[in-house]
Amino acid sequence: MNCEQWLGETASGAVRYFSFGRHALTEALRVAGIAPGDSVLLPEFLCRDVLASLVAVGATPCWYPVGEDLQPGSAPDGWRLARIVMAVNYFGFPQSMTPFREYAARTGALIIEDNAHGFLSSDWNGEWLGARGDLGVFSLRKTLPLADGAALLAVRPGLAGRLAPQLAAAAVGYAPSAARKASLRRTPVFGPAAVAATTGLVRTLRLLRTGHAIPPPDAAAETVIPHPPAPHDGLAAALAAADAQREIDRRRELYRTVERAARALGITPLFPELPPLTAPYGFPFRADPGPALQSLKRWASLRGLDLIHWPDLPDVIVASAPTHYRSVHLVNFLW
Ligand SMILES: Cc1ncc(COP(=O)(O)O)c(C=O)c1O
Repeated sequence: MNCEQWLGETASGAVRYFSFGRHALTEALRVAGIAPGDSVLLPEFLCRDVLASLVAVGATPCWYPVGEDLQPGSAPDGWRLARIVMAVNYFGFPQSMTPFREYAARTGALIIEDNAHGFLSSDWNGEWLGARGDLGVFSLRKTLPLADGAALLAVRPGLAGRLAPQLAAAAVGYAPSAARKASLRRTPVFGPAAVAATTGLVRTLRLLRTGHAIPPPDAAAETVIPHPPAPHDGLAAALAAADAQREIDRRRELYRTVERAARALGITPLFPELPPLTAPYGFPFRADPGPALQSLKRWASLRGLDLIHWPDLPDVIVASAPTHYRSVHLVNFLW
């Protein structure tokens, strides 16, 4: 099955495509009837960029804590009242929906399943991630090497009719070089080294030009989505060309390869196991700065893989964030 068929079948027609997950989330909030001043309940362990979707509809964030196992860190009967609650499948690993369903049953809130990281991943029962709440958000560009791409699924019957018409595809997209970089990475034998060399060169030039090898966090990230909402004009063809099962298998195989390298350095995976139907976004782990982290970074870089720290926490969370919000890293599988 190709990825376009996958989305079509899972959504049975209730899917809309965007450039970024943040635009899909904005549309999800609009479809859910969020008005200025309404509260949206978010996990504290979250990338600050996501707040820009709430700003777009005038919603106010409130927060629930997240434990070291990346499940909610408190019982849902103590969570603040909100019209929406968001469940996040961190790194493509399934989040249990039970606390969110309990909260929704008690308060009448709708559940948005933020599956930005988990396209093509399923839970323990074989249910596709992103199709287990009332609305599901996908950042396809994080799974497949696309110039941009995201999707919104209206899962709850009745919500599909509220979706705005599909936006017409627009030009070359946010990162037109993404597909070229991925095909270079896939070149047999020399691909990973060529990507490592190119990335090194780009970062050195950027360091000389701007003083930063990697662009620093954008100060406006919490308020502005940095690209218009329409998906690029190659998205449909790219999804039709991508084989869903092959991508799932590739990710699982890569996870095991990185896990072996990490364990040899004394680094353990964040999740105790890779569940059978999980298509991981990358290899997440906790580590403090030090030689083991540097060694894994070098190992990843030699293979054309990026090792990143995640997330850039929201400003209101940073000051009081427990250490387990700050120590998560990821070897990214995007190529
Ligand atoms: C959990 C989560 N949800 C949503 C998003 C938004 O996705 P996008 O970067 O495609 O807007 C991100 C990334 O920023 C994310 O990490």
